[in-house]
Amino acid sequence: MTTSLVTGATAGLGAAFARRLAAGGGAARPGRHSLVLVARDAARLERVARELREEYGAEVEVLPADLATEKGIAAVEARLRDRGRPVDVLVNNAGFGNRGGFLDVPVADEVRMLTLHCEAVLRLTTAALDVMRERRRGYVVNVASVAAFMPRGTYSASKAWVVRFTEGIAQELRGSGVRFTVLCPGFVRTEFHARAGMDASRLPSFAWLDAERVVDAALRDVAVGRTVSVPSLRYKAAVALARHVPPSLYGRVSSRAGRRYDPRG
Ligand SMILES: NC(=O)c1ccc[n+]([C@@H]2O[C@H](COP(=O)([O-])OP(=O)(O)OC[C@H]3O[C@@H](n4cnc5c(N)ncnc54)[C@H](OP(=O)(O)O)[C@@H]3O)[C@@H](O)[C@H]2O)c1
Repeated sequence: MTTSLVTGATAGLGAAFARRLAAGGGAARPGRHSLVLVARDAARLERVARELREEYGAEVEVLPADLATEKGIAAVEARLRDRGRPVDVLVNNAGFGNRGGFLDVPVADEVRMLTLHCEAVLRLTTAALDVMRERRRGYVVNVASVAAFMPRGTYSASKAWVVRFTEGIAQELRGSGVRFTVLCPGFVRTEFHARAGMDASRLPSFAWLDAERVVDAALRDVAVGRTVSVPSLRYKAAVALARHVPPSLYGRVSSRAGRRYDPRG
């Protein structure tokens, strides 16, 4: 039995991870699959769980938790440390965007983002590792963004932390039997932009990625042991370029692109 815990499993990329892992995708072992689904909306979690049981015959447990709170993080940590029901795969995916530039966003919302994108990822990875290292098996996928390579406020900074954190532990834990991949997608059609009240309607269609394809690419990268996963050639090229563009030049280019994509809604 392979057990996967996915945060933010009710929509977008998290729901796509849950479906693929329930079907035995990625580096999951052959045999039966069980899932632990985490998000805030308990009724929606139950609906997704029912669909996965019916469609894939997977065993599915739901764990409603707000990962931007101490109580929510502690509840998921406790599940990950439960040696009687060990978790083999952790997908730290839950995340959100704030509408507007740095000065438009209340600092409490920025702190909530840092708690979800950084503190929760740090604590859940640490909890999962306690058990994975003892069993010398498992893998962790942390979902960052191509924004990690661009200077765009707290969102980019939080995702840059996710990239560096994952790269660091991947090196430190080489040979431990536990693998790490950080997924850095570009724009993906999910609920993300609508939830944040961002207007992404003028983005060209080639900018958009499909959630299922992004997850397939990520799981292929997990299978070959790649630490940084950037799905699609166009975003691989964008990341390669962004790594070499000075922040001042990036500011000029992105303000032109901002006419097409306005995080202020
Ligand atoms: N879509 C994109 O263009 C894009 C691009 C690059 C990176 N990403 C990253 O991909 C990840 C998934 O985003 P998505 O696009 O799939 O977003 P989405 O469609 O809005 O789904 C977000 C999921 O996270 C859950 N969630 C949000 N806040 C939470 C909290 N405080 N505690 C627990 N669960 C929470 C939501 O469920 P509840 O509301 O019920 O909690 C939902 O299941 C995020 O980390 C995002 O930053 C997205």
